[in-house]
Amino acid sequence: TGGLLKLSNGLSMPALGFGTFASEGNKGETHRAVLTALEAGYRHLDCAWFYLNEDEVGSGTREFLASNPSIKRSDIFITTKVWNHLHAPKDVEWSLKDSLKNLQTPYVDQFLIHWPIASEPNPDKTVKIGPDGKYVINKALTENPEPTWRAMESLYEQGLAKSIGVSNWTEKGLESLLSFAKVKPAVNQVEIHPFLPQQELIDYCFSKSIIPVAYSPLGSQNQVPGTNEKVSTNKELLAVAAKNHATLAQVLIAWGLRRGYAVLPKSSNPERIRSNAQLVSLSDEDFEAINMVADHRKTRFVNMKDTFGYDVWPEESA
Ligand code: A2P
Repeated sequence: TGGLLKLSNGLSMPALGFGTFASEGNKGETHRAVLTALEAGYRHLDCAWFYLNEDEVGSGTREFLASNPSIKRSDIFITTKVWNHLHAPKDVEWSLKDSLKNLQTPYVDQFLIHWPIASEPNPDKTVKIGPDGKYVINKALTENPEPTWRAMESLYEQGLAKSIGVSNWTEKGLESLLSFAKVKPAVNQVEIHPFLPQQELIDYCFSKSIIPVAYSPLGSQNQVPGTNEKVSTNKELLAVAAKNHATLAQVLIAWGLRRGYAVLPKSSNPERIRSNAQLVSLSDEDFEAINMVADHRKTRFVNMKDTFGYDVWPEESA
């Protein structure tokens, strides 16, 4: 489903991935969602240490592989990410090993730096929160992520991660990373949907052989800041879906795949998990109609300063 994208190191990554963010809380929900997704044909799972549900991703994958002996671990592409407070080189390694234990796998296909912001851990590896209720920022590692990247490179060289990359990085951050990287980042995973089309960043990534990966391809559930607009209620987008006898989600996934990057729709609902994997193809006219909705939108949805109390590249914020 969705074809394969070739990473700069030669590894193939399925263009359609399954997002596991927020499949948490209800015990067993992530296990069921991952099992349903694998049964529906997804072969790419997007995980993170921070989602606190990798044990269920692991058990869901295990159960699927046990009941489908013709399918092997190597047929599934698994990504995980290191959270902000674990950017110190030793902690990067600890984080991946903790994820591997929970995921019940000897390696991941991709390991990403989740955000370009480093913060401090507590001794028990939980996130350290300051008196202001925000993350305690590690400015040195935020401003110079080279030690963190060296740790990522070492895990790549040890074969514990078959590819390495970043998430939520801007062009400026990538430029700096590329200036010292011995192993180039294979991907940059960012929020992309018609209200956040990221055209310049996508063009930049492709020009550097970095594959963009879209999270929240369905528009997240958020409103455009300062408005009451939502992707899910946009009339032009709904018209394209109706015309194709498709769901809006299917049309949004098709738009992303056609733009050439990987998309990671997330759902915990079995019917939506399955229908999101039933790919539709867009006519040129419908593709252009969605491009028109996307045109000139620049809003960054996640405000790093509000979320983490710090912004690495404030001049690139919307
Ligand atoms: P649910 O898990 O109940 O299906 P995004 O990845 O853009 O943030 O979107 C994820 C959200 O979209 C989740 O809340 C998910 O809810 C919902 N969602 C996933 N697939 C569909 C679909 N086909 N139609 C409507 N909502 C969907």
